[in-house]
Amino acid sequence: MKKNHGVFIKNAREVACLAEANCIVANILDAAGDIVAPGLPTIRFEELARDMCADCRVRPAFLGYYGYPYAICCSVNEQVVHGFPSARRLEEGDIVSIDMGVIFDGFVGDAARTWPVGSVSAAHMELMRVTENSLYMGIEQARPGNNVYDIGAAVQRYVEAHGFNVVRRFVGHGVGAKMHEKPEVPNFRPTAHGVTLQNGMVIAIEPMVTAGTYEVDILEDKWTAVTRDGKYAAHFEHSVVITQMGPRILSISDRDLNRHIISA
Ligand code: MF3
Ligand code: CO
Repeated sequence: MKKNHGVFIKNAREVACLAEANCIVANILDAAGDIVAPGLPTIRFEELARDMCADCRVRPAFLGYYGYPYAICCSVNEQVVHGFPSARRLEEGDIVSIDMGVIFDGFVGDAARTWPVGSVSAAHMELMRVTENSLYMGIEQARPGNNVYDIGAAVQRYVEAHGFNVVRRFVGHGVGAKMHEKPEVPNFRPTAHGVTLQNGMVIAIEPMVTAGTYEVDILEDKWTAVTRDGKYAAHFEHSVVITQMGPRILSISDRDLNRHIISA
């Protein structure tokens, strides 16, 4: 692993490990999305994630990270990120985000998605749609020669044009042998200049978007981030390698890869 301005440049083997780690994460998120339903206690997502980690012989990356007590983060409605899975049952109209990480062969995969629970208001469907689209607006900027801050600028422009706001308190990050590496990847346009992106850098882009204020508070549990005004938030995250040909999303599930195969 070479370094450039403190950012690790991954070789082909390292990218292959990151791809495998992220594929496992995406498979777990697929399976989690499949069981989202009113009445489901959110701790079921934790059990599912731990079972799948055991099956794939990988370690959850979040469990024990700075003392974090679970394998997943599960954030409902006004919870932005780092919510705890619990006995709380999902209700029709909720929106639920799951953030998941695993360590495969010493490399970290990290991705997140948000789903509607049953039928959800049009405004909250729009919040999720805009958040997911903003992630792809950011990914589009993840090319050699661009500045890392071009990503946040694109995310912020898109989100604000649709009347929503991006959280400042948490940012995306480089990812590799450690979950959080340089550089920081904000979802907004900072004033300074960041690093120039280059072939072999791997970053997790993770816009957190709110229906109201972007200000967040942390609950008594020291982890759960909630919007200050109680309005809902959505979160989507992909890990991406920068290549000569442009961004390559690593957190793609087997189902996504095979989506063109149809059985008669
Ligand atoms: N995807 C989050 C991040 O990149 C997950 C970290 S949660 C923690 O920061 F519990 F592991 F801290
Ligand atoms: Co992340």
